[in-house]
Amino acid sequence: MIELKLAQRVGRIQPSATLALTARAKALAAEGKDVIALTAGEPDFETPDYIRDAAIDALKAKGPVDRYTPASGLPAIRKAVAHKFKRDNGLEYSPEQVMVNCGAKHSCFNLIAALIDEGDEVIIPAPYWVSYPEMVNFFGGKPVVVDTSSTGFVLTPDALKKALTPKTKLVMVNSPGNPTGAVWSREAQQALADVLRGTGVAVLSDEIYEKLVYDGEHVSFASLSDDAYSRTVTINGVAKAYAMTGWRIGYAGGPKHVIAAMGALQSHSTSNPATVSQLATLKALAEDPAELPEWKRKFIARRDVIAGGLNDIAGVNCSRPGGAFYVFPDFRGWIGKSHGDLLLKDDHVICEALLTRAHVAGVPGSEFGAPGFVRFSYAASDEEIRKAVERIAAFAKELK
Ligand SMILES: Cc1ncc(COP(=O)(O)O)c(C=O)c1O
Repeated sequence: MIELKLAQRVGRIQPSATLALTARAKALAAEGKDVIALTAGEPDFETPDYIRDAAIDALKAKGPVDRYTPASGLPAIRKAVAHKFKRDNGLEYSPEQVMVNCGAKHSCFNLIAALIDEGDEVIIPAPYWVSYPEMVNFFGGKPVVVDTSSTGFVLTPDALKKALTPKTKLVMVNSPGNPTGAVWSREAQQALADVLRGTGVAVLSDEIYEKLVYDGEHVSFASLSDDAYSRTVTINGVAKAYAMTGWRIGYAGGPKHVIAAMGALQSHSTSNPATVSQLATLKALAEDPAELPEWKRKFIARRDVIAGGLNDIAGVNCSRPGGAFYVFPDFRGWIGKSHGDLLLKDDHVICEALLTRAHVAGVPGSEFGAPGFVRFSYAASDEEIRKAVERIAAFAKELK
């Protein structure tokens, strides 16, 4: 027997901690434990029927739905994506400047593959979405992590200036953000655009939570100025706003040569995203779902319950985020305390204790570059959220 040797590049990445914890919470639930999993990064609503029906009709009609499409997507969907960018974001992209991918994660992966050479630096504001540094590492780039926890989870122009070097190739912008839910204002983004002016640095603006803004407004980085437009690739998708995580469609808009490079890569890797999903997305992008205002109302109510409830717990400090469906409380006040025989020495131990002793699953902040914090998703029922807060509060009372 031989042991196959893996490529060095896979040794540089770890499996997704969020997916692993979600699986762990599900396994405990399958064993009959009453676990409340606040780990998931997906809405708990169903894909609206009119989108589902478009897919069913396409499947029944047979023909094109059974076939490949061009690797970057059907001409009709590239047009629809370009139209969406204009309608919602004020961005003028021609259909050649946009493409569809197998989820926004895949859009990010393709873009990083297209831009990053060995040793290139990528500025990643922390707390960050877990996949950004992993993807950069995979391609031999160097994540330059900039902590934003003392500036309201917003990257400041000074911090950006300090992190820039001649090797900087790309800056990640993610508003509303995962894991913090922070919404970056127009002024905050404009200040970053001003710092980048005159450099050759690209921006990946991940706008997957665009439609889930409760306070403030959504601003597309590329819409700030012609200069910002020319350096930005805007990434979005249907997963969060249309409750379509399983359909696996993301999309990107940006400079034509960058999109062409991403398209060439896609033509040799996945080929087109599933044709049936493209056809459903065509319907989805025509207008916002009628359900969206109701979903937002529910998310706001849940956010207020979970953020308010966590804030009332001794040692926990939780801000009220303006978007997405996560809260990102600071648990540093618990570090050094004990629960029975267990010393809470870091956020991993806190999450382990909350999972096994309070039966509430969250994701340790360290996974997002923010030790001492925990991410809870409030894409869960009102009842689950209320109970989860009660359990964490009861656990807190037992700390010594
Ligand atoms: C910030 C961010 N970008 C991208 C994605 C990926 O979205 P998709 O499901 O479309 O791949 C996620 C999903 O959790 C996310 O949180």
